[in-house]
Amino acid sequence: MQDATDPLTGGNGMNRAVVGWEHEEPVPDHEFNDYLSSRNGRLFLEDLDLAGLFLDDGTESGLGRSLPSPLEIVYLPIIRRQIRRMNALFAEVIEELGYEGRFHYAYASKANAAEEVIRTTLSAGANHEMSSTADVDITLFMQKRGFLPAERFVICNGFKPSGTLYAGNILRLKAAHSNVIPVVEDFSEFPPLVNSGFNFDVGLRQKSYGHHRNLAEMDNHNSRFGLDENGIIKAASFIKSAPNLNLKLYHAMVGSQILDEDDFVSWLSPPMEIYARLRQEHPTLTIFDFGGGVPVPMTLDFEFDYREFVRRLLVTLQEVCDKYSVPVPDVMGEFGRYTTSEHGAHLFKVVTTKENSSKYPWYLIDGSIMSSFPDSWALAEHFIVLPLNHLDKPFRRVQLGGMTCDSDDVYPPKPSKSPLYLPVDGEDLYIGFFSIGAYQEMLGGVKGSKHCVLPEAFELIIDRQEKEPYNFELIKGQTSEDSLRNLGYFIT
Ligand SMILES: Cc1ncc(COP(=O)(O)O)c(C=O)c1O
Repeated sequence: MQDATDPLTGGNGMNRAVVGWEHEEPVPDHEFNDYLSSRNGRLFLEDLDLAGLFLDDGTESGLGRSLPSPLEIVYLPIIRRQIRRMNALFAEVIEELGYEGRFHYAYASKANAAEEVIRTTLSAGANHEMSSTADVDITLFMQKRGFLPAERFVICNGFKPSGTLYAGNILRLKAAHSNVIPVVEDFSEFPPLVNSGFNFDVGLRQKSYGHHRNLAEMDNHNSRFGLDENGIIKAASFIKSAPNLNLKLYHAMVGSQILDEDDFVSWLSPPMEIYARLRQEHPTLTIFDFGGGVPVPMTLDFEFDYREFVRRLLVTLQEVCDKYSVPVPDVMGEFGRYTTSEHGAHLFKVVTTKENSSKYPWYLIDGSIMSSFPDSWALAEHFIVLPLNHLDKPFRRVQLGGMTCDSDDVYPPKPSKSPLYLPVDGEDLYIGFFSIGAYQEMLGGVKGSKHCVLPEAFELIIDRQEKEPYNFELIKGQTSEDSLRNLGYFIT
């Protein structure tokens, strides 16, 4: 799930992403990024000794037992941290620029729709963005349990033409939670709203996906999302004439995992012009929603200046709005990958090492890379891979192979030029894939029957408030019987 500009260069333009430790020398004590560090030869996720989950008896961690490999890690404090950081950044830059609008953080639930994730984003103050009928049921579930305060926006993106389950379900949601904003991207989505009997704030989605320099290029881009400029103007007039609809939000998304602040803001500039012109005719319009696309470190060489992005975004909005003599809008972002990527990790044991005629030995792990991280083989996407132990011993360059019989079940992904180094000592070696918490689980599916019928791993949900001790919730993995039952085998 990324803007795959060139699959041969790793999808995101990086042909040599830094995915781990790239040296033969041991690295017993080192900070790899702001949540992964080695201490005395073991890898820590913040304060959690990851190898200890398998190798210790659980006294130290408070788990009270060692865990089986492979193991999925769901680390909720990082979700809260991401939301807190972005809110703080916008608040600072708004203050610095004297920007007269507000910022609304929304979580794009398609990145990861797990219950603990949605509960955490809502508890951390995020608004909610959705794209399907099941998302409505999730939102109602959260609302009933008190996690969705009345003032939170629920943004309904995705296709919802008349007669679809999603269109109908949005009306159920509206009855329970007034602050719902359907974002219309086709005229076929109007009838259910107009005939609903509810007064609706609505949004309009611009056909803006892609990398364009001006309005003409944007309109001519081949994208199935949203309305072109003409369509937006007509839809806005239609909304004005409908007694129960109120145009509140303008939505323009230009891509995903965009790694250049300049490009990001310049691709958003044509939509800003349309926003300002619309605002002249429709004073009810108050929110500019730039959709998703904000990147997150998925490798160790990530460079993106969030502050600079926010500053340029707001300065450009100020300039465009000045030009058209309209007030600046509130700004909304729908943060999917940014919110959830770093909270997920997947840990494996190296079950055997195997020399072969290539220069680099195979390290074979007790799970599947392909079905755990589909973007790695489908889009040649890179993730961080580090050993959990033996970091105080020499490293060598290796290739990782999964337990399936598939020749694509390898890492680094086939076209990648990134070297992967792991400790020479493969005895009782554990490794982790990091920054895999967005999209991978949703694409690979949860609790299904996967490639080569490998059962799904155990999952450990980890949380804590500030520096309190960790709380753990362990969810059992699948047995072979579970996955066989899905395939029609009832083996007792
Ligand atoms: C409408 C919309 N909003 C937000 C997102 C989230 O994007 P990202 O994960 O890049 O933040 C997506 C992703 O496809 C999207 O389609």
